[in-house]
Parts: sequence; C-alpha cells; structure tokens
Amino acid sequence: MPGTSVIGLQWGDEAKGKLVDLLTEQHEVVVRYQGGANAGHTVVVGPETYKLSLIPSGILTPSVRCVVTGGVVINPKTLLSEVDGLLARGVSVADNFLISDRAHVIFPWHMAEDRLLDESTADGENIGTTQRGIGPCYRDKVGRSYALRLGDLYRPTLKSRIEHIVAVKQKLLSALDESLSDSLNADAIYQEYAEYAERMQPYVGDTNCYLLDAVESEKKILFEGAQGSLLDIDHGTFPFVTSSNSSGVGVPAGSAVAGRFINRIIGVVKAYSTRVGGGPFPSEQDNEAGLHLRERGNEYGTVTGRPRRCGWLDGVALRYSVRLGGIDELAIMLLDVLSGLKELKVCTAYEINGKKTFDFPSHVDQLRDAQPIYDTLPGWEENIEGVRNLEDLPQAAREYLDFISQYVKRPITFVSVGPERKQTILCGAEMERSGSA
Ligand code: GDP
Ligand code: IMO
Ligand code: MG
Repeated sequence: MPGTSVIGLQWGDEAKGKLVDLLTEQHEVVVRYQGGANAGHTVVVGPETYKLSLIPSGILTPSVRCVVTGGVVINPKTLLSEVDGLLARGVSVADNFLISDRAHVIFPWHMAEDRLLDESTADGENIGTTQRGIGPCYRDKVGRSYALRLGDLYRPTLKSRIEHIVAVKQKLLSALDESLSDSLNADAIYQEYAEYAERMQPYVGDTNCYLLDAVESEKKILFEGAQGSLLDIDHGTFPFVTSSNSSGVGVPAGSAVAGRFINRIIGVVKAYSTRVGGGPFPSEQDNEAGLHLRERGNEYGTVTGRPRRCGWLDGVALRYSVRLGGIDELAIMLLDVLSGLKELKVCTAYEINGKKTFDFPSHVDQLRDAQPIYDTLPGWEENIEGVRNLEDLPQAAREYLDFISQYVKRPITFVSVGPERKQTILCGAEMERSGSA
C-alpha cells in the first residue's frame, strides 16, 4: 500500500501543514493520529491562510477523505468551531470527514487541570503547555476510570458517567484551588456535551475499520504528524514534551495502521530551531541572530500567539529524530528566513561534563548541561523567496543544504522558501516524481 507519513523532526511548527497540503494531491486519505488542538498547522492557498488544529490539512482538497483517529484527543467545542470556520469559508466538511468514536474527549476539568498543574511544576520551570487540556485528557485515558471517548457520548449511560466523574474531579479541583469549589456542574456539562454530540454525529464512526479497509484496497494514505519528534512523550525531552508519541514511532499506535504499510517517511525540518514553552534548548540564541529568526520567520505561536524561542539548527537533535523516525527523506522549510545572516551555525556535537558526544542525551539535566559545538557556514544576502530551482539558490544556501543532508545522511526532496504552495523547490526523487507525473 502506498502510505506516506510526515513527521516533524524538531520541537513542532516545522511547517508540516504546508508540506501535507502539497502532498495531499498525491493521496486519497489524510490522517491525523495523535495530539489535539495543541497543534496549529498553517496552510496558505493564494490569498487565503488557514490555521488547522484538529482537522487534517488535507481538508482543503475536496476529493480527499480526512480522518481523525482514536489516538487524538478532542475538545468538541474547538472541533465544531473549526468545522464552522471552514464551512463559512466555503470549504467542504461533510462526508469527506470522519472522526473516530475511540478518540478521547476533553472536558472542562481537563482545561482547569492543565492550567493549575502546569503552574505548579516543582523545579520552577513550567512545561508551558498550550493550555488545551491535552495532558490531563491523555492522563485520564491511561488511567481509564475517569475517561470518556467520543463513542461514550452516544450511550444511554452518558449522564451517569459524567456525574460520577464530576464528583471526583470536583474534589480534586477544590483541593488544588478553593475558588474552584462548585465550579463543575454535571447537569450543565451533560447538556452541553449532548448538544455537541448531536452536531458531531454525522462525522463520527469507526476509523480503524475505515483505514484497515483502505489499506486492503490500496488507497494512498498520508499521515499528518502533529508536534515534533523532540516533544514525543517517550523519546523527547521529557518532561518538557507533549503527551503523545509525536515522533515517527507514533503512527501505528495512533492510527491503527501497521508501520509496514508506510513506505515513505518524510521528516520536516525548519532550517533553524524553534521551541515554544519550557525545557532545555542548547542552540537557543537569545541575541541578534535569534531576533532575526523570530522577526523574519514570524515566529509567534499559531495556537497561543506566544513568541517562539529561536536558535541555530541542532544537528545532534536532528540526527536523533531522523534515526528514531526511520526517516527516508527531508523537507527543509523556511530556508528564506536565513537570508541576511552573515554566517550560519549548525550544532554538530555537544560537550556534556567535559565529554564530546554526538548522541542526544536521555535525561533532561544532561541536555541542560550540553554545550553546543558548532560548525560555521557562510550565509547569503539574497532574498530567495522567488527561487524555484535548486541551481538558482545562492552557492552558500546550497552548501548549507548539502551540509545538513550529509550530516544526517538523508536526501533532501523539498526545500521551502515561503509559505505559499508555489514557493517550493522540488529536489532529487521528488523532482523526478513530479516530472513523470
Ligand atoms: P506546523 O505546525 O508544523 O504546520 O507549522 P506552523 O504552521 O505552526 O508554522 C509554520 C509557519 O511558517 C506558518 O506560518 C507557515 O505559513 C510558515 N511557512 C511555511 N513554510 C514557510 C517557508 O518556507 N518560509 C516562510 N517564511 N514561512 C513559511
Ligand atoms: P504543531 O503541530 C509547537 C508544546 C507546548 C509545550 C509542550 C506541551 O503546531 O507543531 P501541550 O499543550 O501539548 O501539553 O504542551 O508542547 N507544543 C507545541 N509546540 N508546536 C506544536 O504543535 C505544539 N504542541 C504542543 O508549547 O511546550
Ligand atoms: Mg504549528
């Protein structure tokens, strides 16, 4: 089966949305399989900019089926307002959209817990979550007793389940913050969610069944990763991570499609590094270079509007994500943002406690201690937003790309030089594919 997956290789916001939109026309199904409305994927189509959180970026191509699987956590209010926003702009969201009845539901108590518990991280540095209730909802999923799936919203037991959970959650919230005693009203929550359930019903179904059939009938499926590999709950910079498997290893568990059916894995890389929220970031540049990246790259969070932390490309982290995700090829995004920097640095090793290493450390304290060791490359002045062929890039830009490709031992197939679809340079195998298409 021709399955493609798109995986962010850094701390999110690598421009996965743009790449998924570009690849959509080569596929019949686009799947979101982890995370939730913590994601903000931007797709620019001509004069229109779409910011998608829960709905796959393939939705702008009407012939494609968009699927949200059971690995995703869903706030129905957010989902419905995203649907409404798209409908109002003339985008079809009808039988081209399917959501799993196995997906877990975010409730008001999850939002409250996200706010209260992130503020009280013991070591003084907050995770800095997006405050969308993602972690608390996944925590309840794993804990099982106080979790509700979308499918539960259609069961006769819904009201009593909500009452049962509210009784416990109310005690928890009151203990954390006295002003929240009596903040949850089971009746009102039941009414609200019953209405959401009715509105969502046309889209809800068994996505495992649908995708397993799609695999058997050899449909071309595109998997859209959210967040990035370094935010992976198991393999990222724990605890400064999100609560799902956002690296390449997350696709089968989140989607119910076995890894052997995915034959093309594309790693999406921003030409430099950004991070939103807390946690160590060895190549962070809290200086002129960092400011250049933030202003030229418009590095402000898609979901929360927070300024993103900016820094040089971290080759050590990238090589780790590439190997972790079984990445076949790279898409290098936002290369245009580097124009105007005299020299560019790439972190190619860390020094931790006096020892040089090429390995990404497993403990967050080691990463905090890591001193980046840089290779310095020449920059370029030219504006490259209009470049469409690799040969037309300044020599220094081509050298920068070659350096990345050689360092992680993977070919580059896409280079992005602006947010629009046409601001894309196809390289290597992708150029041949598009030439023969
Ligand atoms: P995602 O979460 O990985 O989909 O990425 P975001 O949408 O959060 O952030 C990427 C941002 O960069 C968006 O505002 C895109 O419109 C923009 N973008 C995408 N590709 C390029 C590019 O090549 N150059 C520039 N300057 N901006 C880009
Ligand atoms: P996309 O899909 C960048 C970050 C948050 C925080 C940490 C945990 O647009 O790339 P959470 O709300 O998930 O519990 O927050 O993860 N984070 C992201 N950073 N892009 C994202 O998504 C992110 N989703 C979560 O900033 O540091
Ligand atoms: Mg984003």
